Amino acid sequence: MNKLFVIVLFVSFGIFAFAQSDTLPDILTVIHSRKSVRNYTEELVSRTQLKVLVKAGMAAPTAMNKQPWFFVVIDDKEILSTLANKMMFGNMLNYASAAIVVCGDMRNVTDALPKFWVQDCSAATQNILLAAEGTGLGAVWIGVYPNKVAVKKVRKLLNLPKYIVPLNIISIGYPDGTDKPKDKWNENKVIWNKWE
Ligand SMILES: Cc1cc2nc3c(=O)[nH]c(=O)nc-3n(C[C@H](O)[C@H](O)[C@H](O)COP(=O)(O)O)c2cc1C
Repeated sequence: MNKLFVIVLFVSFGIFAFAQSDTLPDILTVIHSRKSVRNYTEELVSRTQLKVLVKAGMAAPTAMNKQPWFFVVIDDKEILSTLANKMMFGNMLNYASAAIVVCGDMRNVTDALPKFWVQDCSAATQNILLAAEGTGLGAVWIGVYPNKVAVKKVRKLLNLPKYIVPLNIISIGYPDGTDKPKDKWNENKVIWNKWE
């Protein structure tokens, strides 16, 4: 009887430990594996997969829960190439399967929260980058706003109305494996409690 009790105890502890190790480190593994991916295979990313990414984006926190955003999802190769040619640092779009342009909706920006749309849309962007990493895709943030020339070019190409401001373009594809995560941990950049 005693033996059985010990076995049950060990098995229960094993299951508990496994469950813990299976749930907790998962998100951290994704966070620490994320990297800017600029090299892709030719495999296409489906609209279902892209929707998963946008859904992750829309799960982000926003100031006063305004959700002042729109997501322009591009899977048309011709548009991707035109964007690549227009953006100074967007050559990878020539090889990407898709892109998501994260935009701020100025109709949802109030005087009380004039600039928070940038943080809101950046939070959504990071969610999309992590969701891409976590679902086996590769992605990179291509900056647009506040570069006025870039904003104008993207706006014109995608026919965006005046109240929609493109914050960035996220280039997406299947990673070819050449891009690796960087270790950015720096203890010297951590201040505990107060600056001395
Ligand atoms: C606001 C912002 C703008 C960026 N713009 C570009 C860009 O135009 N082209 C590009 O290749 N990468 C761009 N990046 C990606 C950074 O170069 C990249 O995040 C950085 O080098 C760190 O590398 P990692 O993402 O692999 O950790 C941008 C990132 C941020 C946050």
